[in-house]
Amino acid sequence: MPVTIVLGGQWGDEGKGKITDALAATADIVIRPNGSTNAGHTVVTDDGIFKLHVIPSGILYPHCTCIIGAGVAVSPPDLLREIAALRERHARLGQLYLSDRAHVIMPYHPLLDLYEEQRRGAAGIGTTLRGNGPAFTDKVARRGIRVADLLPGSEAHLRQKLEMLLPEKNTLFVHLYHQQPLDLDELLKEARTWGEALAPFVIAAEVFVQDALAAGKHVIVEAAQGTMLDLDYGTYPYVTSSSPTAAGACQGAGIAPTQVERVVGVFKAYTTRVGAGPFPTELTDETGQLLRERGREYGTTTGRPRRVGWFDAVAARYTARLNGMTEAALTKLDMLDPLPEIRVCVGYRLGDRELTAPPAQLDQCMAVEPVYEILPGWQTDTSQAASFADLPPAAQRYVERIEELIGVPITMIGIGPARRQIVWRHASALA
Ligand code: GDP
Ligand code: IMO
Ligand code: MG
Repeated sequence: MPVTIVLGGQWGDEGKGKITDALAATADIVIRPNGSTNAGHTVVTDDGIFKLHVIPSGILYPHCTCIIGAGVAVSPPDLLREIAALRERHARLGQLYLSDRAHVIMPYHPLLDLYEEQRRGAAGIGTTLRGNGPAFTDKVARRGIRVADLLPGSEAHLRQKLEMLLPEKNTLFVHLYHQQPLDLDELLKEARTWGEALAPFVIAAEVFVQDALAAGKHVIVEAAQGTMLDLDYGTYPYVTSSSPTAAGACQGAGIAPTQVERVVGVFKAYTTRVGAGPFPTELTDETGQLLRERGREYGTTTGRPRRVGWFDAVAARYTARLNGMTEAALTKLDMLDPLPEIRVCVGYRLGDRELTAPPAQLDQCMAVEPVYEILPGWQTDTSQAASFADLPPAAQRYVERIEELIGVPITMIGIGPARRQIVWRHASALA
């Protein structure tokens, strides 16, 4: 059962792209199971920096088949642009497929995302404005448009669906948001060109993947976002609209839980978050500023400055357990190199209680005070380490302490953005 899930253990941007790219060197298939163009996964190779949004991070290997799974919401113009940009830069790409069951981000979705954020004002979620929430809302409301609906031959069916849908959207545009309505024929014309352009990529992805697994192929599922942004278990309502968990990854990729062998949780050696919502370990001082600048913590998709804070082992242990992580990758350890001491949050204090997991109530989640353990820094360059033993002793202790706190072996340590900047450790040697 050679399925490996790679997922985020924090609030996204943990370095899933880099870890997936490293593991994909020996994989046959990489699948994106959730999210949309809201994601931005960075892979750095000798050819430069690649920022991938819906295309899986295995695409830079010609031997990898990459699949955008049923659980993704796809914006056709964004996907077509992403494909064109990759082809322009990188001649030797893997094969790309798109699930016929994936939902489509229609032109009204980013508009609804924007107008709703504007209406919420100060209470806004800080979404990526890519239409993610409205597209998944339509999916759950059973009125979504799927990739299969765009394909040549489906025009009459699509017209029928949009004739039903568009009056509702236009009522919102005109009467709630005071904007212009959209035109049905324009939409249908656009949809036809997308369908024609995407048709060569479209397959029954879940069938393809199950056939591949039956033939013994090695599959990686590369989730987007992070578990603390999960719709059920994240800091609701400051979450995304799909499930970035291992369970969500199975669902979105068309894989059964019993087919999964490894669940690799990716964590940054500190914490970042883009957008609004609770962030107990947030740093608003000069250490936060240093990490933001040193770590170039600006959103891959939106360019927004990321909020920065200490490693939150309460949230990390929570996500490690929820996802059944079999191992973890700790990225950007090198970013902590200059610090004289490093804090790790080991508990949440709420009044006279100490919590060991994030509470469901938003006001409590906002109010918790982190309980910190202080570890010595190493103030040494780690970016060239070739093995765990090469890391300064204090860095080794930091990794081991996090491992202890989250209860999962750390098998990969990121010490720079490049492919070779990973220190590998083996789970069996850590037992
Ligand atoms: P993702 O969304 O989880 O794939 O993460 P992003 O690509 O949005 O953000 C991670 C950023 O950190 C990217 O700019 C990566 O190139 C960079 N990165 C990943 N791992 C490391 C690491 O170990 N060290 C350093 N310095 N940068 C890293
Ligand atoms: P990757 O895959 C970090 C955040 C947004 C916002 C919230 C809801 O690169 O880790 P949405 O547009 O999904 O409705 O926004 O979720 N968010 C991410 N933050 N990394 C991501 O993806 C994110 N995708 C969404 O900033 O707070
Ligand atoms: Mg990202």
